[in-house]
Amino acid sequence: MTPSQEAEQHLPRPFPTARPAGCPFDPPAPFAQAREEGPMTPLLYPGGHIGWLVTGLQAARAVLGDTRFSSLPEGKRDPVKEIGNQLSTDALPTGMFVNMDPPQHTRYRRLLSKHFTVRRVRELRPRIQEMTDRLLDEMESTGGPVDLVTAFAKPLPTLVTSELLGLPEADRAEFGRHVDVLFSLSTSQEEMHQSLMGLGAMLNALIAAARKEQGPDVLGRLTAETDLTDEELLGITIVLLIAGLETTTNMLALGTYTLLRHPDQLADLRADWSLIDDAVEELLRYLSVVQVGPLRVAAEDFAFEGLSIRKGEVVAVSLPAANRDPLGFDDPDTFDIRRGVTRHVAFGSGPHQCMGHHLARLELAVGYESLLRRFPRLELAVPPEEIGTREMMVTYGVLGLPVRW
Ligand code: HEM
Repeated sequence: MTPSQEAEQHLPRPFPTARPAGCPFDPPAPFAQAREEGPMTPLLYPGGHIGWLVTGLQAARAVLGDTRFSSLPEGKRDPVKEIGNQLSTDALPTGMFVNMDPPQHTRYRRLLSKHFTVRRVRELRPRIQEMTDRLLDEMESTGGPVDLVTAFAKPLPTLVTSELLGLPEADRAEFGRHVDVLFSLSTSQEEMHQSLMGLGAMLNALIAAARKEQGPDVLGRLTAETDLTDEELLGITIVLLIAGLETTTNMLALGTYTLLRHPDQLADLRADWSLIDDAVEELLRYLSVVQVGPLRVAAEDFAFEGLSIRKGEVVAVSLPAANRDPLGFDDPDTFDIRRGVTRHVAFGSGPHQCMGHHLARLELAVGYESLLRRFPRLELAVPPEEIGTREMMVTYGVLGLPVRW
């Protein structure tokens, strides 16, 4: 069936963004309605294009694993018109491999992935613990209440990324300020431009230093061991920033909020810290913070899962919907840290599956456990109704999380 034939049966809907009132952790209800009609249904894009929405777990894996659905930027359309703080890809450097298909994409993955293996990431653990403890010391010294996003969830991934890239300690505060501006909801075009220029200058200087020193960090190794150009290295660095910061920040804050709102689960975790990895996995599934996309564009006409796909049709995979598919998980809308979940798609799937997933898992496990152990009586400092959420952003999360202890 083509989208227009499907459309005769089911009216193509716009991409839903409104979460159910009082349920900040559940995806918008129309995703489940769409999934009842089929794992892949027509989607009305702003401007009138009719493409596809994927809400089923198995279909999400199939689309993301099939390179006939291209990742190239040509023809991609945002499913939501007013989506917040998207960096324009126009004047960005080469090396942004997230927007590439094989064989170019495969080349970058091959050069980079050895820096993100379980073994490499495990070596970072002592430093991640040290940075976490230092942030918690500062937070504790204020006596509270604090906004957990500002005090902890934002700075931790920024520091870890700085470490990964070999950014000198002295430059980390400025780096953090630029990142803040780029990912803030209230950034004007002018501020965005200034911060991009500032960040670009910092990263170019960092790449030049890495070429000279060839240290043990990712940039040092890439300059020593590969023939990547400075422009490619800049593109790679920007991908790491875009992909790794907002996602981890929002998981840290929204995950903490979820645990605080599920006191029985939190008590289980506090009683048995060996549950921490299971808790991280369930939080990743249950929250699925990448809430718009991944997006793909059909590169040719072909039959797929009983549907006729036409070249140029845009496909939006909803990870939150796929991770609540009842065919994939028992009682999917229940948050249960003991469910032993493994096959979720919070990190995507296929050739573009998150390259930083081991690192993200480690940051989350160290982050949640250290925070909760440090503050045995951690609680919200405001009523839940006052916690604002990021509904119109690519990455879902809380706008702030005032806590006390
Ligand atoms: C909880 C935190 C994170 C989540 C939920 C997440 C999620 C995702 C998702 C869904 C994709 C797939 C995009 C697509 O298919 O088009 C992706 C790609 C990617 N992620 Fe993550 N990510 C997280 C943390 C990180 C971290 C910490 C890093 C590294 C520092 C990272 C690096 C990347 C890279 C490089 C890609 C692009 C891979 C490619 O195109 O081949 N991510 N991530």
